[in-house]
Amino acid sequence: MKVAVLGAAGGIGQALALLLKTQLPAGSELSLYDIAPVTPGVAVDLSHIPTAVSIKGFSGEDATPALQGANVVLISAGVARKPGMDRSDLFNVNAGIVRNLIEQVASTCPQALIGIITNPVNTTVAIAASVLKKAGVYDKNKLFGVTTLDVIRANTFVAELKGKNPADINVPVVGGHSGVTILPLLSQIPGVTFSEQEVIDLTKRIQNAGTEVVEAKAGGGSATLSMGQAAARFGLSLVRALNGESNVVECAYVEGDGEHARFFSQPLLLGKNGIAERKPIGTLSAFEQQALSGMLDTLKSDIAQGEAFVKS
Ligand code: NAD
Ligand code: LMR
Repeated sequence: MKVAVLGAAGGIGQALALLLKTQLPAGSELSLYDIAPVTPGVAVDLSHIPTAVSIKGFSGEDATPALQGANVVLISAGVARKPGMDRSDLFNVNAGIVRNLIEQVASTCPQALIGIITNPVNTTVAIAASVLKKAGVYDKNKLFGVTTLDVIRANTFVAELKGKNPADINVPVVGGHSGVTILPLLSQIPGVTFSEQEVIDLTKRIQNAGTEVVEAKAGGGSATLSMGQAAARFGLSLVRALNGESNVVECAYVEGDGEHARFFSQPLLLGKNGIAERKPIGTLSAFEQQALSGMLDTLKSDIAQGEAFVKS
């Protein structure tokens, strides 16, 4: 099993690489790529950790040496927000970075499962899909926008509020990954109930959690360590499913049946070929139903922006 991390010298990339070096199954290969010249050094640093995971680092303009034979590619290359910015403000720089990297994935490891972390995820996933399609290698069961951070945040905040162990909470988060498009389904947590005000406040906190970190870091970037943990959880789930483990379920932003929008985050059963089954989002409360209807214009316009970018 070979996992490639693109953007590996960055805040997320280094945290993610550390977690993968310590948690990938024995015998796996980890491949790190970033334009930053330090990347081979990051790999040397991690190589001293005594796990049976081999590691190599690559830098420069060409990502293909890192991608040869990759089964899973996780992409966090690109710029992060500063206070006062929305994720959509990252489009101008990150759209081109994602297009370029996905072109190299398409030519080097077209069978790989791809997880896009780079923001704005609502749009970069649409860019990736269009690039893969243009190259004739798009498989909608193999492309994921990584929204696991929304899930782990929701689990943490619900557990805090209700005095529970976060490990026992699993909140499905559907929609997209920005502002109102992030919709935690708080009505679907077994054994946990909320007042109307708690639902309003918690939903808002989960939707604004990225901004909470951006403001707390005061110009020093956005979530890196919690995102490293979230991306590792998602990447390891992909690896477990590829290795034949059953019942691996994660929420991610994928192309579905288009009932709500072409791309939509929902619970997925993962398997040896990526998505084995898109699970229904279940019955929504009146609050959630209204929030879902209210997000769709934003989500669809974010997707259209990505599609138009590749067409032009
Ligand atoms: P960072 O600046 O710390 O790291 C980004 C890395 O990307 C840098 O090392 C940089 O050299 C590298 N890079 C830039 N252009 C590249 C290219 N063309 N090829 C390869 N590498 C390139 O940023 P970060 O904090 O790690 O965030 C990375 C991205 O992840 C941002 O877009 C951020 O908004 C996004 N993010 C997404 C989520 C999510 O939930 N999906 C959460 C947090 C951050
Ligand atoms: C997050 O949710 O923390 C990330 O999408 C980064 C950001 O810009 O908020």
